[in-house]
Amino acid sequence: MDRIERDVVVIGAGACGLTAATQLRRSGASVIVLEARDRVGGRLRNDDSSGALLELGGQWVSPDQTALKGAIEELGLETFSRYRDGDSVYIGPDGVSHRFTGDIFPASPETQAEIERMIAVLDGLTAEIDPDRPWAHPRARELDGITWRAFLEQLSDDAEARSNVAMFTAEAMLTKPAHAFSALQSLLMAASAGSFSHLVDADFILDKRVVGGLQQVPLRLAAALGDDVLLSRPVRRITWSADGAVVEADGDLVVEARQVVLAVPPNLYDRIDYVPTLPLRRHVLHQHLSLGLVIKIHAVYEEPFWREDGLSGTAFSPYLSVHEAYDNSNHGDPRGILVGFASDARADRLLALEPDERREAILDDLARYYGERAKHPTIYVESDWGSEEWTRGAYAASFDMGGLERFGADVRTPVGPIHWASSDIAGAGYQHVDGAIRMGHWVADQVLAALAPTPA
Ligand code: FDA
Repeated sequence: MDRIERDVVVIGAGACGLTAATQLRRSGASVIVLEARDRVGGRLRNDDSSGALLELGGQWVSPDQTALKGAIEELGLETFSRYRDGDSVYIGPDGVSHRFTGDIFPASPETQAEIERMIAVLDGLTAEIDPDRPWAHPRARELDGITWRAFLEQLSDDAEARSNVAMFTAEAMLTKPAHAFSALQSLLMAASAGSFSHLVDADFILDKRVVGGLQQVPLRLAAALGDDVLLSRPVRRITWSADGAVVEADGDLVVEARQVVLAVPPNLYDRIDYVPTLPLRRHVLHQHLSLGLVIKIHAVYEEPFWREDGLSGTAFSPYLSVHEAYDNSNHGDPRGILVGFASDARADRLLALEPDERREAILDDLARYYGERAKHPTIYVESDWGSEEWTRGAYAASFDMGGLERFGADVRTPVGPIHWASSDIAGAGYQHVDGAIRMGHWVADQVLAALAPTPA
C-alpha cells in the first residue's frame, strides 16, 4: 500500500480541481490531485483519433467569462473567433427553412415581437437574481415551484414564441425538458451568464475558442503540478473527522490530508463511501441534483461548403432532434466542421436507435439546415457523456423542482474537512468552465483559511 501525506487532497483533475490545486500550491500548501480517469480535463477533451481535432466536451468562451479568459492568458494560450459571417437558418413548426441574421428567429412579425417582449421580461427578472444566491430572491419559493414550461405558458399564449424562448435554457443549457426544472433554475442559468439576452445571442455565448482546444487549460495546469497529479486513481472512501481525512483510492493508495477538495460533478458524490456517514441534510441534498443529457455531434467535410451558399453555419430549430448547430471548423484547418447538439428526450429517442440509424437521422437534420451535402461527411463522431463513467451526463448538474430554493444555500457548505467545488455549483459561470475556475479559486481560499493557524 502507498501512503502519502499532504495538507490538501484534491479529488478530480478537471478545470476546477486543477485550479484549486495550483492556487493552494502557490500559497505554500502541499497538495496531491487524485483523478479517476487516465487523463486530466474531465468534461474538457480534445480528441484527434478520428483524423481531425475535435473538442468532445466544453469548447466556447464568452466575453463575460473573465476567470476563464484570465486562465487562458496566464497559460499563454491563443483564441480565435467562431466563424459567423452570413445567414443563420431557422426551421419553424411548419418544417420550412428560413434564413435570418441577428438573434430573433424569423417567425411571423407577431411571434417575433412576442419573443422580444418575453426576453425583455426575462432580462428584468434575471437582473434581480444574484447568481451566487438565487434562493435569496423574494419570490424564490414561487419561482422554484413552477416549471419553466408552465412559467412561460403564464407569460405568453404564443406557442412558437414559447418553444423558442424555452430552448435557450432547456435544450441549449440545462439539457433537460422544460417541464423538468423550475423557472428559478432557468433564471439562475441566465443570471450566471449576465442576462437572458446573453443566452439568446449566439455570437456572445459562443464567441471564442482556444487554438488547439480548451482542454489545454487543464493539460497545462496539470503539467505544472507534475507528479502531484495521479491518474487512474478513483477515490472510493473518505474517512473524516474535524482534524482531517484519510482518502482511499484504487491501486492501494491512501492519502492522509488535513483538508479535502471534492471537485467532481455532484451526481458522483454518492459513489464515494463516507466514514462516518455524511449529515442527513447533505445526503438528501445530493439526491436533488442531476445532470442533463446531450449528444454532441461532429461532422467533418472536405470544405466548409455552407459558406459558399452564404450560410454562417449557425442553425436552430426547437422542432428538430438537432436543435442547434454551428460552424466548428478548426483554426488553420481548411476542412469544414459542423457541430450539432441533440438534448434531453430527443437524445433519448436517438440513443434508442441503432448507431447507423442514429447517424442517418442526425445527418438528415443537418441536411435540412445546410442541404444534401451535409449527409456526406468524411468524419462523423458523436460524443455521449451520459455513458462516461466519471461524468454520466452533460453539460452540468441542476436541481430538481423546488431543490434550488430548498437546498441551494447549503450546496457549498463544507462537511468537516470536505469542501465541495465544481462548475455545477458555481454562481457566475454556472455550468461553464468559467464557473469551474471561479469555484477552484473560491475553494482554495476556503481551504487556506481552514489551514491557517487559529490565533491564540
Ligand atoms: P469535471 O467533470 O470536468 O471534472 C471532474 C473530474 O473529477 C473528472 O476528471 C472526473 O474524472 C473526476 N472524478 C469523478 N469522480 C472521481 C472520483 N471518485 N475520484 C477521482 N476523480 C473523480 N462549458 C463551457 O464553458 N463552454 C462550452 O462550450 C461547453 N460545452 C460543453 C459541451 C459538453 C458536451 C460538455 C459535457 C460540457 C460542456 N461545457 C461547456 C461544460 C464544461 O465542460 C464543464 O462545466 C466543466 O468542464 C466542468 O469542470 P469541473 O472541473 O467542474 O468538472
